[in-house]
Amino acid sequence: MKVFITRVIPEEGRKLLAEAGIEIQEWKEKRALTQEELILNCSTADALLSVSTRLDADFLKAAAHLKVIALHSVGFDHVDIEAATALNIPIGNTPGVLSNATADTAFLLMLATSRKAFYLHKSIEKGDWGFFEPTANLGIELRGKTLGIFGLGKIGLEMARCCKAAFGMKVIYHNRTRNEAAELELGAKWLPFEALLQQSDVVSVHTALTPETEGKFDQAAFQLMKSSAIFINTARGAIHQEDDLLQALEAGTIWGAGLDVTNPEPMRPDHPLLKLPNVSVLPHIGSATQETRAAMSVLAAKNVIAGLKGEEIPFPVNPEVYAL
Ligand code: DGY
Repeated sequence: MKVFITRVIPEEGRKLLAEAGIEIQEWKEKRALTQEELILNCSTADALLSVSTRLDADFLKAAAHLKVIALHSVGFDHVDIEAATALNIPIGNTPGVLSNATADTAFLLMLATSRKAFYLHKSIEKGDWGFFEPTANLGIELRGKTLGIFGLGKIGLEMARCCKAAFGMKVIYHNRTRNEAAELELGAKWLPFEALLQQSDVVSVHTALTPETEGKFDQAAFQLMKSSAIFINTARGAIHQEDDLLQALEAGTIWGAGLDVTNPEPMRPDHPLLKLPNVSVLPHIGSATQETRAAMSVLAAKNVIAGLKGEEIPFPVNPEVYAL
């Protein structure tokens, strides 16, 4: 049995695959595969372990022989799940293991933005430490402020826990369905979307990208936020409208923004957002810790191994394939 892996993954996952007697074929070039290269490499494989690779209906039709596709991510917005299900291909993801690392990234961006840390670091590099003035380089304190979570799932809950523990922040949230466990644990309060925007000092996005959430943070949304508010997105760049965000920051409609995800990715190096003092941008590193990436590679390998044995995979995103 053979698995094709679209980017180099941590040793822990590769080891598990090798111990299961699965032959590994890896794409080692530091560029994304073209669709043709992907199809060609999958043509001789029984399984695909896919890292950040768009898998559309055309690809899935061409690779319908695959027994399983294991994603090296929790998100699956880059995969046509409906097409995979129709072709009876189980798709697996890596839930749970990246919640802490991603929440840490949101927390880091919130704090860095509130004190203009990235911008001031760049100023020093440019020789612009400057003359000390009590009114210069002022940030915003977070103690006792209100955190608004958009999408209170595993990652949002961890971010809320950090903010409450560190700064005693009050937690409000908006979800399609109430998270009663979080309400009990953190005293979190559910609010309609508009009220969440109006009442939050920090709005942090932790929802999946779906047709419903795509472009949700647009000009109208930013206009509802406090002029002192910080917007954090560690989920998916397409959930905010980047031009509207830029405009809101330049006009002072909101105070700052911290982004681990942009639209598109990578963000171009001369993007005007990168020049603003109250903006912090990271290159989609939410899950990028040694511990988390190792754990993700292990879950992805487990999905491959089970799929190749003809067993139900442990972390399916389309469990319907087993009901067919
Ligand atoms: C995920 O796992 O979905 C992360 O955002 C990496 O893409």
